[in-house]
Amino acid sequence: MSEKYSISPAGERFPIPKPEDYKAEFERLKKLVEKERKKGREIVVVMGVGFVGAVMAAIVADTVDKKGQPSKFVIGMQRPSARSFWKIPLLNRGISPVKAEDPEVDPMIDRCVNKKKTLIATYTYDVLKLADVVVVDVQCDYVKEDLGNVRSGETDMAALEASLHVIAENIPADALVLIETTVAPGTTEQVAYPIMKKVFRKRGIKSDPLLAHSYERVMPGRNYVASIRDFWRVCSGINEKARQRVEKFLTEVLNTDKFPLTVMERPIESETAKIIENSYRATILAFLDEWSLFAERNGVDLIKVIKAIKMRPTHSNMIFPGPGIGGYCLPKDGGLGLWAYKHILGFEDDIFKITPMAIDINDTRGLHVGQLTRDALRNMGQPIAGADVLVLGAAYREDVGDTRYSGSEIVIRKLTEMGAEIRVHDPYVEHWWEFEQQDTYPGVGQSKARFFRNQERDPC
Ligand SMILES: NC(=O)c1ccc[n+]([C@@H]2O[C@H](COP(=O)([O-])OP(=O)(O)OC[C@H]3O[C@@H](n4cnc5c(N)ncnc54)[C@H](O)[C@@H]3O)[C@@H](O)[C@H]2O)c1
Repeated sequence: MSEKYSISPAGERFPIPKPEDYKAEFERLKKLVEKERKKGREIVVVMGVGFVGAVMAAIVADTVDKKGQPSKFVIGMQRPSARSFWKIPLLNRGISPVKAEDPEVDPMIDRCVNKKKTLIATYTYDVLKLADVVVVDVQCDYVKEDLGNVRSGETDMAALEASLHVIAENIPADALVLIETTVAPGTTEQVAYPIMKKVFRKRGIKSDPLLAHSYERVMPGRNYVASIRDFWRVCSGINEKARQRVEKFLTEVLNTDKFPLTVMERPIESETAKIIENSYRATILAFLDEWSLFAERNGVDLIKVIKAIKMRPTHSNMIFPGPGIGGYCLPKDGGLGLWAYKHILGFEDDIFKITPMAIDINDTRGLHVGQLTRDALRNMGQPIAGADVLVLGAAYREDVGDTRYSGSEIVIRKLTEMGAEIRVHDPYVEHWWEFEQQDTYPGVGQSKARFFRNQERDPC
C-alpha cells in the first residue's frame, strides 16, 4: 500500500493530507464549532473512529435535549495513517466505516452527518483545542509471543499513551476526558493521570485533568447501537468533579432512564469490572472445551445436554463454544489484567490460574477443528492434503465484519499447514487483512502465520 494513499475496504483511494492541509482544516473546524456553540451545543471529540468510536460518535451526535433539539456537536478524530485515514472521508459523506448487520447504524450516521449536521470527522489533533468533552476510543492491544500462552505476552498501550499526550497538549483545562478504551486496571490513575498532569504543568495549568473511565459493552452485530445506547453502563472519575461530569454526560447521551448508570468511586474499580466481566465470559466458554471433547469421543450430543442444563435458571448463561473462539476482546482482556498486576500495580507473585488457562484454551480451540476435518476426510477416503475446503465465516461472530483474533484464522492456518486448499466466504468481510498483509498485520512480526508452517502463500 502506498503511504500517500489510504485505501478503503471497497478499494477507493484517498490521498493522505499533506502538512500544508492542516491549517485550512483547523480553520474550517473553528468556524463550524463557533456556529455550533452559538446554538448552545456541547462540542464532543471522539478519538478513534473504529468499531466502537464510529458508532459511539453517532449516538452522541444523535442526542437531543428536552425540547427535542440536538444538544451535541461531535467531531470524530482519527489518525491519518495509511491503514485508517479512509474512515474520515467516508464518515464525512455519512457512510459508516464499520460494516454490520444492525439496520440502525447506517441511517443513524447518515442522519447525523447529512440531515442534523451534528457529526463530522477530521484528522487534525488541533480539534482537541475546541473540545468540551473528549471520548477516547483508541485501541489498547495485548501482543502474544506464543500460541496458547497468554503469560508470555504484553500490553501494547503505545497508541493510548500517544493519544493521552496529545490530548493533554491540546485540550482546554476544564475539558472532560472520558477513557472508554478497555485498559489494564490502574491505567487511568497510574498511567493516564501522570502523563496528562505533567503536560498540564508544562502548559502552566494548575488544575488536575478531569479524567474519567467508562467501559464499552458494545456487541457489534444486529444490536450494535442498542448495545451502546440502551444498555447499562459503569463509570468512574478520578475526582469528584470528573465523576459528576461523566455522570452528567452519560446520562445525557445514553438511555439511562431505562438502563441506570453504576457510578463507582475510583477508575480502577470500573477498569477491573471490565476485565473481570470478559474474563468470566472467556472462562465459561473455555470450561466447555473439555466437555465438548468428552461428548465428541463418547457420542454424546453436547448441544442437547446444554439445552437440558439451561432449563435450570441458575445455569441459564451457559454458552456453547463454537469451533473457534476469538474476537478483539475476550482473547486479550484477561491478559491486560495479568499484566497490570505486575507492571502497573507492582506485584511479583503469580495469583492467576483460571483466567490465563481459559484464554489459552480458547486461543487454541480452532486447532482441533483441523484434526476433526482431517479425520472426517480420511473416513471419506480422502487425504487432507490437496483437499478443497470451504470455510463459511471469517469474522469472529455472526453479523459483523471484524476479523481480529477470529477463531476461523486458526482453523484455516491449521488446515493450510496440513496441505488443504482453502476458500472462504463471509458476506461482511471484504478483506481479510490477517492473510492479505501477513508481514504488517496486526503489526510487524505479529502475524499468527509464524506459529504454523506452509503459510507463505495467501491461503484464501
Ligand atoms: N470491538 C468491540 O466489540 C469492543 C467491545 C467492547 C470494548 N471494546 C474496546 O474498545 C476499544 C476500541 O476498540 P475498537 O474495536 O473500536 O478498535 P479499532 O481498532 O476498530 O478502533 C480504534 C481506532 O483508533 C484509531 N487510533 C489509534 N491511535 C489513534 C490516535 N493516536 N489518534 C486518533 N485515533 C487513533 C485507530 O486508527 C482506529 O480507527 C478497545 O479498547 C476495545 O477493547 C471493543
